[in-house]
Amino acid sequence: IPIDRYRNFSIVAHVDHGKSTLSDRLLELTGVIQKGSKAQVLDRLDVERERGITVKAQTCTMLYNHKGEDYLLHLVDTPGHVDFRSEVSRSYASCKGALLLVDASQGVQAQTVANFYLAYSMGLRLIPVINKIDMDAADIPRSLDQIEHMFELDTSDVVKVSAKTGLNVEQVLPAVVEKIAPPSGIVDSRLRLLLVDSWYDNFLGVVCLVYISDGSLKKGQKIFSAHTDISYDVKEVGIMYPIPLKTDIITAGQVGYMVIGMKKSSEAHIGDTFFTVGQAGEPLAGFEEAKPMVFVGAFPADGVEFKVLDESISHLVLNDRSVTLQKETSTALGQGWRLGFLGTLHASVFQERLEKEHGASIIITAPTVPYRILYNDDTEKIISNPDDFPSVENRQKVSVLQEPFVEAIMTFPQEYLGRVIKLCEAHRGEQVEITYLTTGQVLLKYLLPMAQLVDDFFGRLKGLTQGYASLDYEEAGYRPSDLVKMELLVNGKGIDALAQVMHRSETVNKGKVWVSKFKEYLKYQLFEVVIQAKAGNKIMARETIKAKRKDVLAKLHAADISRRKKLLSRQKEGKKSMKSIGNIQIPQEAYQGFLSRA
Ligand code: GTP
Repeated sequence: IPIDRYRNFSIVAHVDHGKSTLSDRLLELTGVIQKGSKAQVLDRLDVERERGITVKAQTCTMLYNHKGEDYLLHLVDTPGHVDFRSEVSRSYASCKGALLLVDASQGVQAQTVANFYLAYSMGLRLIPVINKIDMDAADIPRSLDQIEHMFELDTSDVVKVSAKTGLNVEQVLPAVVEKIAPPSGIVDSRLRLLLVDSWYDNFLGVVCLVYISDGSLKKGQKIFSAHTDISYDVKEVGIMYPIPLKTDIITAGQVGYMVIGMKKSSEAHIGDTFFTVGQAGEPLAGFEEAKPMVFVGAFPADGVEFKVLDESISHLVLNDRSVTLQKETSTALGQGWRLGFLGTLHASVFQERLEKEHGASIIITAPTVPYRILYNDDTEKIISNPDDFPSVENRQKVSVLQEPFVEAIMTFPQEYLGRVIKLCEAHRGEQVEITYLTTGQVLLKYLLPMAQLVDDFFGRLKGLTQGYASLDYEEAGYRPSDLVKMELLVNGKGIDALAQVMHRSETVNKGKVWVSKFKEYLKYQLFEVVIQAKAGNKIMARETIKAKRKDVLAKLHAADISRRKKLLSRQKEGKKSMKSIGNIQIPQEAYQGFLSRA
């Protein structure tokens, strides 16, 4: 099949609008999977999963006959969440068009909007598809209206389907063939390929999903990465059908996979360009190294072996290319790790997995975003650990402190507008735009500090709107901010693992919460304990745990006065000496309790 009969497309959709269901229908229609045999396919996928293989079921090559001619279609899956924006954009880069899928019962949502902008800005031809028309709650005119007014798309293009029942699904692929342009690669040319995605397979090792921009890729070829300059032998190539299917060759315009003996997922840089060794060319545009935006510290709890945890964390990271990992040492919690994630969702998913696997044996610190510190001597530093925040003494060397901001896009029913605006304002938000949608929904854009998003903003937004709100965001760069490091002190000593960088305006409230929460977990102490929250060099809050006096007199006869005095004074001495050391035992449950999100 010649390249002008290839069509590469993806599906742009909000979560739950039916992307997986529609993909399955398309695979059935083209005979990749048997109709009604979804259970069977899933079984097969489950087996794969048990073997430790991540199956990218939704990226698939299909053969489709349209008006008597065969077409080769590549459906390219994208990670659903915006945390992976740079990866989503690489998937779009391999496509000339996309289906813009809208749930007729819900209308356009935050993620639809964010992904639409991205796809549109990359020049993709968008075909609107209204899904779930079988539902009673479906409101087709409303969805049509949104597609026309929000996205300025031609509604005569719209395909109305039910992915679930299969109604009208047969109209989708003809639209793909007729409206989306073929890929623009040159077949008779030197090899140039784009790395779109990668995953770890226990048997094959690192598998790369690739888009062949020009030339062709064969087994045995020697290729190298434009980004790392490392060269590799091509061990296997093929197409996704929907699991890897070996072929001899993949050529310009095709999306397929390659196995090139990479040892670690981290060698695969999404957006990287590969050439044949000795035939370098111009790398494909848009390479952007994914940078972690949320960091946490993780430490083994008492009595847990560092080595055991280290192995299992390393294994988890091996499977998730986008997590960064570094060793870290805390005076309070000992040796541990610093983990970096692409965004808040990514962090919480990974954290859940860690907690599920390790339960109480792991202590995870509060998440932090990277802060940027500009010094008077024009140098700058990005810090991802509160421990690296400039000390009060070094503060005069600093010219500006900056924190990362995002533009949050929220959609929710109009009646909640007042409450949501209040929430955003309380989180140091700055309003960008309000759009009233025809659905009785509003689209609200706010500039928000990324740190607020990390701090369960979405949870609160959901709570306020009874679960109706959806949220997406785009990074909006760094802005100057009045930042300060807040520490928790126990008898005057700071606990490094609990320190956090925050905006000065938050220190009063947070300080109070910190000391009372920590007190709750320390409870009984033999000696007086002072718990303080300190922001910069200012004490924001204080709690004291009174010494619980051991009743040394209990066994004495009431008349034995001199003995009594002696015992009491000895007790006082003892306390004094312990107090001066200031060395109290903090049980690990106190850290764990303090850091628990409940
Ligand atoms: P994620 O995988 O979470 O991103 O969701 P998705 O967009 O892939 O949605 P998915 O295909 O999993 O569908 C979400 C839910 O909507 C499922 O319960 C589907 O059964 C249901 N659904 C999908 N299409 C239709 C449809 O046409 N009609 C109805 N009634 N339900 C549908």
